[in-house]
Amino acid sequence: MTPGPSARGSRLTSRLGMTERVFAGPRSRKLLAQVEDGLDRVEATLADELKMTDALADATSRYLYEAGGKRIRPMLALLSAHLGEGITPAVIEGATALEMTHLGSLYHDDVMDGADVRRGVPSAQTVWGNNVAILTGDLLFSRASQIMARQGERAIRLQADTFERLVLGQMHETVGPQEGDDPVAFYLQVLADKTGSLIAASAETGVVFAGAPEEYGMPLRTFGEKTGVAFQLLDDVLDLSADPDETGKVPGTDLRAGVPTMPFLLLGQESDDASVALTSRIDEGVARIADGEDPAILDTALAELRDHDATARTLRLAHDWAREAVEALDPLPDGPVRDALKRFSEAVVDRSS
Ligand code: IPE
Ligand code: IPE
Ligand code: MG
Ligand code: MG
Repeated sequence: MTPGPSARGSRLTSRLGMTERVFAGPRSRKLLAQVEDGLDRVEATLADELKMTDALADATSRYLYEAGGKRIRPMLALLSAHLGEGITPAVIEGATALEMTHLGSLYHDDVMDGADVRRGVPSAQTVWGNNVAILTGDLLFSRASQIMARQGERAIRLQADTFERLVLGQMHETVGPQEGDDPVAFYLQVLADKTGSLIAASAETGVVFAGAPEEYGMPLRTFGEKTGVAFQLLDDVLDLSADPDETGKVPGTDLRAGVPTMPFLLLGQESDDASVALTSRIDEGVARIADGEDPAILDTALAELRDHDATARTLRLAHDWAREAVEALDPLPDGPVRDALKRFSEAVVDRSS
């Protein structure tokens, strides 16, 4: 028997240990039940909005949706809605559109990063080729815009502004730092743009779709953006160290494809012989892989980077960003929503997938 929507919602939130972590304590019980119910509604709306009359587009659009995902963006959106009127139909639509934007960005990202695996399944372009994968991402962005358009001008503007920032983040990552740019500061800005922007928009949902006080907008955005940076920094650590069965990705995918990550950038700041030699070996391996050699030639070097202090520093940095995210919530009223947001940020840097 296939699990019903309710079982699915519970399973999704427990992926990050969210149920236990974010909603700890008796005063969160009611909020948890409401968010779980909201996630089920987002899931049903996503399934509905992903339907396409074209058979190929229908199959390709559902493909990564059905493969899984943590749904952290809808969860944040549903949480922040409780600072306003709660989970209204507008909130469900907003959360659905934001998750759909995220979904579309994954199709494009895997083409750009040359990633073979996503959400534990072969990435879309390995199944249908680059063109169909790119066009599927475009279709999902169109659908997300259609949903936002039903919610009015502010919603569509949120969608457009967020998407523009996400795209520029991806573009800046692609071209890399220019003359005079500090590589670490540049990278942090890329993370804020490509990932922080959408998580910030999710956190702002309460204000945009649920009538929460306008003065909560900036604290929620800042919280979301910083949590997004923390999330990506942790992703960089997981990229080197995590169990592929848990992350659904091949370890070191980004680095092997020549996409720098924070541990590698921090390694580049070290001047001791061993660190300099490791940097050269990774650079050389990336160049050889680009020339068609087996990506496994970097296995040993990436294991050394995983155990290097640069990776431990990245983990500390992720925790610093998560702490700053929580500090941004100071203007919000004390209560279960603020508690849950705080725990959300902590869970993001304390996850294994
Ligand atoms: C992956 O995001 C892409 C990034 C922006 C880092 P998630 O880790 O939230 O991906 P899913 O939705 O759980 O697959
Ligand atoms: C993904 O970033 C960012 C977007 C999809 C906008 P990454 O390329 O670092 O994320 P993963 O590791 O593929 O999930
Ligand atoms: Mg990627
Ligand atoms: Mg990428």
